[in-house]
Amino acid sequence: MKATVIHEFGDFDVLKHEDIEQPSPKPGHVLIKVLAAGVERLDHYIREGSIVPELPFPHILGADAVGEVAELGEGVTGFEIGEREIVAPGYPQEEDETDIRPAVTAPSFALPGLHISGTYAQFMEVPAYALVKDETGLKPEEVATLPVSLATAVHALKQIGEVKAGDKVLIHAGASGSGSMQIQVAKAMGADVATTVRSDAKGEFAKTLGADLVINTRKEDFVEQVKEWSGGLGADVVIDNLGGDVLSKSIDAVKPLGVVVAFGFAAGTEVTFDVRNLFFSQKQLRGSMASDMEDLEWGLEQVRAGRIKPLLDHTLPLSKAAEAHRLIANNEVTGNLVLLPWAE
Ligand SMILES: NC(=O)c1ccc[n+]([C@@H]2O[C@H](COP(=O)([O-])OP(=O)(O)OC[C@H]3O[C@@H](n4cnc5c(N)ncnc54)[C@H](OP(=O)(O)O)[C@@H]3O)[C@@H](O)[C@H]2O)c1
Repeated sequence: MKATVIHEFGDFDVLKHEDIEQPSPKPGHVLIKVLAAGVERLDHYIREGSIVPELPFPHILGADAVGEVAELGEGVTGFEIGEREIVAPGYPQEEDETDIRPAVTAPSFALPGLHISGTYAQFMEVPAYALVKDETGLKPEEVATLPVSLATAVHALKQIGEVKAGDKVLIHAGASGSGSMQIQVAKAMGADVATTVRSDAKGEFAKTLGADLVINTRKEDFVEQVKEWSGGLGADVVIDNLGGDVLSKSIDAVKPLGVVVAFGFAAGTEVTFDVRNLFFSQKQLRGSMASDMEDLEWGLEQVRAGRIKPLLDHTLPLSKAAEAHRLIANNEVTGNLVLLPWAE
């Protein structure tokens, strides 16, 4: 089969499109013919070597996949060959750990493309318990935009941020893969949403997703804008996809007792803030990482109900994964990019 693999960390050109041996499903596992694989900023970080110091090379990146059941491993029942399935974007490798919550705390929890072989391939083998039937009615390339962005958005807003209907929520980078989905999830939960962008074009896009207030941070100060929007107090919850200097300002933008959810680090990994700004007003800083099966299922329910839509920027053949990574690294993507393993 064809797969895009890395043999070393490095720049975009370490992504090599190669013939490799097709996996066969272990007992309890299913062989999936991958129809479409999403591209995440995390894939870019892993490829350049900034997430883990070593990997068992050659390694296949990618955490998002939708595909068809191609072969059943020993003992697997309840699946039809050719049936459309979504691969959970992270799951324990040991079946007896599937009830542990949050799933990321299970000792054998693994993200495809990081801890285990990923989705940039024509076939992948997955435990049957990590598959969710695709009943969205969407095209594979649309579905492939969803697993990571949707499930992690639900996890961050619902479980970690504990957002309630009527809450005022600030979401950074509203046109990014994560931010664009978080806006939709927050709106589906009945929240009012403010979002930040750095260009008017991305701002227009964020408005189409239902953002109530769009702040272009090249022209306006988001702390001032959010305070004014929320009657002076600050947001109930901030989802911070950016880290760095932005995160320290997110603490200023949240109300007393409010919650800042640290979700990403596109603007930097090091953050400096005055600790008094946190405890005097009992603000809370919480981390959100990956998702549970319930997050994906709840999100997919919203998709089926038409409350959340996939945001596909464009597709590329899998052989063009290096170009996809370049676009992500240069912030040239609105919504999500998807690779097609069977396209020329
Ligand atoms: N916690 C989790 O489970 C989880 C899951 C998925 C992703 N993440 C993390 O979330 C972050 C965003 O991921 P993504 O997939 O949404 O990325 P993405 O689609 O590549 O978008 C990132 C966006 O961040 C903005 N940005 C970049 N540098 C910035 C800076 N210095 N200041 C302000 N804005 C900046 C850019 O938008 P503008 O041009 O509009 O500013 C860019 O489009 C990443 O760090 C990723 O690793 C975490």
